[in-house]
Amino acid sequence: MKILVTGGAGFIGSNFVRHVLTAHADDAVINFDKLTYAGNLENLRDVETDPRYRFVRGDIGDRAQVLEAMEGVDAVVHFAAETHVDRSNAGAAEFLSTNVTGTFTLLEAARELKVARFVAIGTDEVYGSIAKGAARELDPLNPSNPYSASKAAADLLARAYWTTHRLPVIVTRSSNNFGPYQYPEKVIPLFITNAIEDKPLPLYGDGKNVRDWLYVLDNCAAIDLVLRKGKEGEIYNIGGSHEVENIVLTRQVLHLVGKPETLITPVVDRPGHDRRYALDSGKAHGLGWKPTHTFPKALEATVSWYKEHEAWWKPIKSGAFRTYYEKQYQSR
Ligand SMILES: NC(=O)c1ccc[n+]([C@@H]2O[C@H](COP(=O)([O-])OP(=O)(O)OC[C@H]3O[C@@H](n4cnc5c(N)ncnc54)[C@H](O)[C@@H]3O)[C@@H](O)[C@H]2O)c1
Repeated sequence: MKILVTGGAGFIGSNFVRHVLTAHADDAVINFDKLTYAGNLENLRDVETDPRYRFVRGDIGDRAQVLEAMEGVDAVVHFAAETHVDRSNAGAAEFLSTNVTGTFTLLEAARELKVARFVAIGTDEVYGSIAKGAARELDPLNPSNPYSASKAAADLLARAYWTTHRLPVIVTRSSNNFGPYQYPEKVIPLFITNAIEDKPLPLYGDGKNVRDWLYVLDNCAAIDLVLRKGKEGEIYNIGGSHEVENIVLTRQVLHLVGKPETLITPVVDRPGHDRRYALDSGKAHGLGWKPTHTFPKALEATVSWYKEHEAWWKPIKSGAFRTYYEKQYQSR
């Protein structure tokens, strides 16, 4: 199979590209990525000489670039997005142009080229905060912030292309991912790297918000299965089945890095901060998928990865990153 992966230079996309090249000897991957601040070709240095892999720099909102890259592929797996909630709260324009208009451009191109599979990567955040129980695929969407609202729009648009145009779309909605190559603005790599550097760990509000954590390699396996065995027009929730309060997670990170809890620094809560996300992943389980990594082992492996890869994250955490984050936390 020849697969166009959008956003393959980002966190989940790069892990997915590596997963496909490792698991499927006959597959080829085109990684189509704009290389925004979150895209990093270092994430795929180890596969760049593989003849089955090709990188194309391009913008999913650019129709001509998209059509050229998509020509002749069997499937599209669409990860490319603006992904950080805090950035969307500070300014949502890029979120609308990339996540909504960019997805529209890809769907149109896929329709024109009659692509046989289009997997749209969505998020559990589209369901909004879940007080009790777990969200199922046909539950109403109730996004709370500009990021999740833009993802909900993209998700609904992708589904409309199935309903109206019979473009063979499948949507996955996963819970919070963690693992190697995650940009260190997201909570787990931010806290691991801050702890390594003896810097404060800025914990939102009372620290009792709950997230369901999914190891990135488990998500890649699920997406791969959905790509090959999922049913067209369907949505699949992909949850880690490991709910944990942020404060508990923070203590676990500090314990694994070997740093004191005095580094925990409460900061004013994120506006519109969803209290809890939870997914019912029964449909994905029905396809034969289950997470194979336990949370404690995967978190330990992730901490070790960041300890061993300072050369990857130290340059990211200097310069523009520092300016952005110092401004964020000063204003609280
Ligand atoms: N990280 C999570 O916990 C999580 C959970 C659920 C769903 N998701 C979804 O999974 C996908 C990947 O998330 P991630 O955490 O790997 O993101 P990321 O921010 O690490 O990477 C995003 C990638 O998209 C690229 N990109 C951005 N705008 C682009 C454009 N206009 N054209 C082409 N490429 C562009 C960036 O350069 C980057 O490589 C996103 O759609 C996100 O909404 C993420």
